[in-house]
Amino acid sequence: MKKINFIISKKRNEKISKIIYYFENLSYKFLDESVKFEIFSDKLDQDIPLLKKICIDVNYTLEKVSVKNWIKEVKKKDISSETELFIFHQGFKDISTTKNKIIIPAGLSFGTGSHQSTILIIKIFEKLNKKIVFNFPLDIGTGTGILSFILNKKLKKKIYATDISSDSKDNFEKNKKINKLNNLLFFKSFGMNNINLKKKKFDLIVANLLLNEHKSIITNVCKHIKRRGFYFISGILDSQINYFIVLLRCFNLRLYDSMKLNGWACLVFRKY
Ligand SMILES: C[S@@+](CC[C@H](N)C(=O)[O-])C[C@H]1O[C@@H](n2cnc3c(N)ncnc32)[C@H](O)[C@@H]1O
Repeated sequence: MKKINFIISKKRNEKISKIIYYFENLSYKFLDESVKFEIFSDKLDQDIPLLKKICIDVNYTLEKVSVKNWIKEVKKKDISSETELFIFHQGFKDISTTKNKIIIPAGLSFGTGSHQSTILIIKIFEKLNKKIVFNFPLDIGTGTGILSFILNKKLKKKIYATDISSDSKDNFEKNKKINKLNNLLFFKSFGMNNINLKKKKFDLIVANLLLNEHKSIITNVCKHIKRRGFYFISGILDSQINYFIVLLRCFNLRLYDSMKLNGWACLVFRKY
């Protein structure tokens, strides 16, 4: 097991999001002007070329880590993050809290609760859920299932979840069991492209995707939002906000609310 250490300027948002997206066994810390990364790797021959593909001029150092130390390190970092109502962790420790605990063990899918794009969408949901009643939610690109799980816990409604990846399906079902949740339906689907979703309209659609992934499904997704329904868009950068405001106006959706964190943005649109 090796640790790949490097630092990247905070301004390189797109690269930072890709690194976090492609490497699961990593930790990172936001410093004043930069982000400090540690990627734990037991297949350097694949991970180094991938890192260089994302960030051609990266300057890294390698450090030997024993497997025992690596597991210890993961366990030490058991709490990934928390919001007003939830704590997300990997289930290594018994955490005493009055908040809702969601266990997401590290796996092949994205969504442990440690990424800003996930935290932002959860925070904005917690805020709006105080004044709006959501009845029929869909989570597009569910990954580990994290957003579906918090919707299920808070709304007590049936949750529809989709992802294009088969790893996500396995992960979602496993995490659903670990968290003892039910009334959640997963469909493997590219956007809305599944027979079970084709005729459905939702009053809340949440999607935490990268810019190009949003672009490839957005036109179709807009058709599946009920009148006065909501579309939460996360995974985008500050600089991409206007693109979505202009585009979604063409589909009768207006910006209703937004939140920002460390260069990331989450937008809430409402259909009129
Ligand atoms: C950034 S992760 C978000 C995971 C989780 N929802 C979260 O908020 O932490 C994006 C997920 O979307 C999935 N995805 C990407 N494009 C998609 C598409 N067109 N339709 C459905 N899922 C997609 C990916 O497989 C990945 O699991």
